[in-house]
Amino acid sequence: MTSYKDLGLVNSRELFKKAIGGGYAIPAYNFNNMEQLQAIITGCAESSSPVILQVSKGARKYANQTLLRYMAQGAVEMARKDLKSNIPIVLHLDHGDSYELCVSCIEMGFSSVMIDGSSLPYDKNIDLTKKVVDYAHKYDVTVEGELGVLAGIEDEVSSEKSHYTNPDDVEDFVKKTGVDSLAISIGTSHGAYKFKVKPGETPPPLRFDILEEIEKRIPGFPIVLHGSSSVPKEFVDLCNKYGGKLENAVGVPEEQLRKAAQSAVCKINIDTDGRLVMTAKIREIFSEKPAEFDPRKYLGPAREALKNLIIHKNKEVLGSAGKA
Ligand code: G3H
Ligand code: 13P
Ligand code: ZN
Repeated sequence: MTSYKDLGLVNSRELFKKAIGGGYAIPAYNFNNMEQLQAIITGCAESSSPVILQVSKGARKYANQTLLRYMAQGAVEMARKDLKSNIPIVLHLDHGDSYELCVSCIEMGFSSVMIDGSSLPYDKNIDLTKKVVDYAHKYDVTVEGELGVLAGIEDEVSSEKSHYTNPDDVEDFVKKTGVDSLAISIGTSHGAYKFKVKPGETPPPLRFDILEEIEKRIPGFPIVLHGSSSVPKEFVDLCNKYGGKLENAVGVPEEQLRKAAQSAVCKINIDTDGRLVMTAKIREIFSEKPAEFDPRKYLGPAREALKNLIIHKNKEVLGSAGKA
């Protein structure tokens, strides 16, 4: 058993308290490889933002669970020793789908886990979430639960339709499970195709009415928004200019995320935008400099582009810059 505290990590409790009081949200960025991790840590250190490093079940499978955990440990040391930065860093399991997976992550040094029982019947979601909370809290690890289903792929759980969170359920769910934060569904979805709109049309607003109702039922309780990439047109266009085929890719407008960050939403999950910006940059280099074959020559610029995107989000969208 490795305690996250020995790795220099923190759980999310204090970060969320400050974020709700301060009207900003903590960024939760997914990583699967070294360049993404370097960009996230460097971008957050440079903008002085607390950060949640997110690891999905798929990321553990792709990068190897042991290597991934040592990469996170290395990232903390890099921040402290090389970047001279003391930003709070959380290592979080994204969309955990079983008790065993959550336990495995906690034993390896994660400081926070999500147990996603959102596709289960309500009572089963409560039972599973409570079981994870009871284990995690013994080690002061924080737990995120989910109520309501996002459209699209949630790791290996997929759903065609979004089912908004029912505000009537949240108080009971939080009380019965003891979770530390709650992911809700108010119109976001995973991936690059969040809304079906014609070119030039703006996507429909998120259901802020549902969010307000939820806040009334559980005042001051930390709320999490998944599926919060903005899918910037600039990078969709860059991808497509160099042979990509991302047709009608649309994300959540930045102003809406800014508005959400000022509410009880204190964690905003972003994965797709990171994938998009790196792919766009790599496509550009492959096309403009076809003689290059050293991976550092295309992964390096892709990493730099991701770092800049992260700084932009922390400063202009989530408001977390300067809050470390
Ligand atoms: O919400 C899911 C995250 O974007 C992780 O995606 O399961 O492909 O690693 P993944
Ligand atoms: P995006 O696909 O919008 O980046 O959402 C990521 C996410 O919710 C990870 O849990
Ligand atoms: Zn998610």
